[in-house]
Order: sequence, then structure tokens, then C-alpha cells
Amino acid sequence: MTNNPVIDLFDDPDKKFVKICAPMVRYSRLQFRKLIRMYECDLCFTPMIMADCYVKSAKARAHEFQTDTDDRPLIVQFGANNSSDFVNASNLIIPYCDGVDLNCGCPQRWALNEGYGAQLLKNPEIIKDCVRQLRNHLPTNKTISVKLRLLDDHRQSVDLCQQIEATGVSFITVHGRTALQKNEPIDQECLKLINESVSVPVILNGDIKNLSDAITMQEYTGCRGMMSARGILHNPGLFAGYQTTPLSAVQDWLNIKHTNFLWFHHHLVFMCERLLPKTARKTFNQLRTASDVVSFLEDQLHISNVLPSNRILGKELGGTSGAYYENIAVEDTVSFQPEDIVDSIINLFD
Ligand SMILES: Cc1cc2nc3c(=O)[nH]c(=O)nc-3n(C[C@H](O)[C@H](O)[C@H](O)COP(=O)(O)O)c2cc1C
Repeated sequence: MTNNPVIDLFDDPDKKFVKICAPMVRYSRLQFRKLIRMYECDLCFTPMIMADCYVKSAKARAHEFQTDTDDRPLIVQFGANNSSDFVNASNLIIPYCDGVDLNCGCPQRWALNEGYGAQLLKNPEIIKDCVRQLRNHLPTNKTISVKLRLLDDHRQSVDLCQQIEATGVSFITVHGRTALQKNEPIDQECLKLINESVSVPVILNGDIKNLSDAITMQEYTGCRGMMSARGILHNPGLFAGYQTTPLSAVQDWLNIKHTNFLWFHHHLVFMCERLLPKTARKTFNQLRTASDVVSFLEDQLHISNVLPSNRILGKELGGTSGAYYENIAVEDTVSFQPEDIVDSIINLFD
């Protein structure tokens, strides 16, 4: 046992693989992390937080990051394009989490133009500087990790991961696509090669639709962990082996205290996609108040709401991280289907 719960997870000989919730802007927030931890998710990432905003603005700090004492193990992910923002933001947040992660995978145009996300893959010196500088500042019992996408060929991808490993990262997450790929199958061969070429734990990410697929991928690649984003959004019971959202997870979602109607409702739209017939889903997706949402679930799925505060949620979005959050707020004003949301957001990332 070390004194870091993330390292302990990776070191645990009884754990065949570590099950991880991906960083997801807007969605991998405290309430969702609470839910999936009830369904065998071992480790959670926060949404990407812009390091510079986090350092500069108290409002950003309050808006972008909420946690509580049960919310562990937890990795906070930052978007940064230089080591001083990354170190400064990490120093502020580190007492409330077990480690910090650098986003090297966001392929959105604004990110690439400003040197964030996948653009860092073209400037590995910045990634290495971020990790090295932070290692000098952070207590040794906190992890530093990097989440990245593949480069154009296997050799380059392996080489980059080896360079990153040499800077002292605790683990690496690899989304098995390049920054230009969207819906192509993930490159399991490359994940396997990376896993065989570095000693730190490698987390596989991309296209996990159910637990048995994930196990097959994990066995093929040998990766120490598996990370899901869209799969777990649609089915928070995925890591516990459920094929679709168990009704108990919808009930659990209602038992959690929420603060924002849009986040509360969006998650339910994803979760209930396969639980409701098409016409009911259309009605459900267009509901505009928390009270209507709760009553609808009581009627259709016989779920009870025990928290009166969940009936009166407001819609304020806040949002302080510039264009990034402005962009993803677009769907708040229109009626949506879950696929549309995921497509619009996935276009920002993947
Ligand atoms: C709604 C949404 C938000 C995302 N936000 C982030 C993020 O904040 N940071 C990040 O590194 N990746 C982000 N991603 C990418 C995912 O973490 C993941 O790499 C990608 O979706 C592939 O995994 P999947 O096939 O399980 O969805 C996001 C993806 C989605 C769908």
C-alpha cells in the first residue's frame, strides 16, 4: 500500500483491471461521479478545467470544481498550454484530489489554435516541461498523468509515450485514435504496443460499449485500466456489467442532491434512452422543468423522488472558461435528442 489510492488501485493484485470514468466537459461532475461510484467505477476524472481560468478567477474555481469527502479517488484534468499555468492550478487543487492530469487530446479548433489539447502532441517539450515542473512542486503521494491521442504511426506514438514516461508520469491514458479520427475503430494494436513499451500503467480509452467488449480489449492490449466516456453516460451501470441503465441507477440519480436542471435532465436523457419507448422519450427530452421531469419518471418508470429540492432546480449555467464552455452551451437553447448532444460535443473533442 502506498499513500495514494490511485497507485494502490493500479498495484492491487486482486484487481484484473481498473475501471475509470473519463473526463467529460459538463458531464463528469460531482453528481455523476457519485452515481457511477455506486456501480463499480474505481476511479473518476473531473471534466477538463482550463488551468489559466482556474488560477485567475475565484468564480471559475467555484463553478468548475465541486467535490466532497466521498468523492475519491479523484483525478482533476487541466487544459494547459504552458507549465506555469499547469503548476499553479495544480497547486491550488491538489489538497482536494489524488492527482492531476494534462489534456493532450482535445482536437477542437480553438484548442489547436491556442496550443491546448492535441496540439501539445506536436510540442512534446511542453508536455514534458509541464510534468517535470509539476513533479518538482507536488507531494510525491499525488499522481501526475497525461491523457493523449495517437500520432500518425505506431512508432511515433510509442516514442512519445516513452518520452512522457521518462519525465516521471504515474500513468498514461491513450484514446486509441489520432486527433483527426472521429468514428474510426480504435487502434488496439497500437495500444498493445504502447502498453508493452512502457512500464507505467496504460489506460485504454475509446468505444467501450459494454463490459464484455472492454474485457476483450483489455485482454488483447494488456492495458492496466479501461476508461469509458459515452458508454458510461448512456449506461452508468456499464462497469457493473449491466447492458443498459438499471432502473436502480435512475432512482439513485434522483436520490442525489442536484444543483442545476440542465445537468440533471441531460444525464437522464442519456440514461433513459433505452428505457423509454420512442414517443415517451421525445416528450421526456423536451421537458423544461425539474418538477415535470420528476413527475414523468414517477409515472413512466415508477421511480420516486425523495428530495423535494430536485423539483425546483434552476437553469443557470454560469461558465467561465471562455469559448470552450460557450460552445458547448449551444444545445441548451434548443430541444435535443441524446445523440445530438453527444455528436455536438464529441465534435469538440473527438
Ligand atoms: C461529452 C464529452 C465530453 C468530453 N470531455 C472531455 C474532457 O473534458 N477531457 C478529455 O480529455 N476528453 C474529453 N472527452 C473525450 C473522452 O474523454 C474520451 O476520450 C472519448 O469520448 C473516447 O471515449 P468513449 O469512446 O468512451 O466516448 C469528452 C467526450 C465526451 C463525449
